[in-house]
Order: sequence, then C-alpha cells, then structure tokens
Amino acid sequence: MPRNKTPLCAAIFASGAGSNAENIARFCAKYPDEIEISALVCDQPNAGVIERIKKYNIPCHVISKNNGDKKHHEESVIHALKPHSIEWVFLAGYMRILSGNFLRHYPRVVNIHPSLLPAFQGKDAPRRAFEAGVPFSGATLHYVDEGIDTGTIIAQEKFPRLKHDTLDDFIARGKEVEYRLYRDFLQALITERKTACPAQSASK
Ligand code: GRF
Repeated sequence: MPRNKTPLCAAIFASGAGSNAENIARFCAKYPDEIEISALVCDQPNAGVIERIKKYNIPCHVISKNNGDKKHHEESVIHALKPHSIEWVFLAGYMRILSGNFLRHYPRVVNIHPSLLPAFQGKDAPRRAFEAGVPFSGATLHYVDEGIDTGTIIAQEKFPRLKHDTLDDFIARGKEVEYRLYRDFLQALITERKTACPAQSASK
C-alpha cells in the first residue's frame, strides 16, 4: 500500500523472550503512516524475540558480543542501523548498558524497567522486589543515560502484590503494566508528531 506520509523510524533492542518487543511492534503496526519499527537489534543468537518478531517483517540484526569488546560491539550496531535512519531506540529487555559514544549517535533511547525506580535498579528486579516482601511494585519507562537504570523517568505505574501471589503471578502483573506504559508513550509520540506536522497529517 502506498504511504501518505513518512513515518518516524525506530529500532527495538532486545535480548530475551521479546514480549515487550512484540507489544511495541504490534502497536506500531497499527499506525504505519506514523511510526515504523525499521530494525530489531538482538545480541543473543538464540533469543526468543528473533522468532517472535518475524511476523512483523522487521529486519533483524543479530549482533552478539563475541565479535569484540563493548566498543567494537556498539560500532557494529551503529553500522547496522545506519541505513535505517533511526530517530528513536526502544529498549525492550536489552541486557547491555549503552556507552556515551552510542548515546551521542542515538540520543533518544527509552527503556522499560520492571520496578518503581529508583528502587531495584539493575538485573532481576522483580525477583528481588518479591523476595524483599514489597506490598506493591511497579514499572518505569525512562530515558537512557550511561548509568544502570538512572535516566530521567518518563512514566511509572504501581501495582499491588496480592496475598497469594507466586513470583510468576507478580511478574505477569508487572509485565501488563510495562506493556501499557510503552503503548501510552508510543501514542504520545504519535500525537506529538501529528501536532508538530499538521500539514502532513491533514493530507491523510
Ligand atoms: C522485562 O521485564 C523488562 O522490563 C526487562 O526485561 C524483561 C524483558 O522481558 N528489562 P521480555 O523479553 O520483554 O518478555
């Protein structure tokens, strides 16, 4: 189908099962004139996200760290993204800390974290929160800086830990919050862009 306008181009970075990546891809597929996921970057050759995202026809770049050190790895990622004119990078369970050099190339990077930051920064946050006996937890969408989950917070939402929750129940409830935060952010990006480019939108 011919396009009415040029969409904003974004990349998803993921390392794992890819439920957040799929949530983002599914949402963006509904607005092809507004936003396009132009690339998936995955650093784990056996990650579930690679198979999971195939149905969205997103070019997938599997770039594992064993082709060099962090600097070399990030340069390979930057090189792979070059043809895609990426404006935004959406981290969705990407298990690497991005360097200042990478963030100078791509300053608009967003991450979803499964806790109410600044509580439980870093890996394995839901399990650590659960084991600490928290009465509620949450998810946080934030901009990415060079630290570990330290960037400016965009949005947060709480959820309760229920009396009979297993760790799996607790994680599943948190994931639903993560998906909603990302969708709300994407919707806001689309709305903001429409407001900034009314002529383009009017030609739809
Ligand atoms: C999510 O909980 C995300 O917040 C965290 O890693 C997990 C990835 O899960 N950073 P999935 O691969 O999106 O299912």
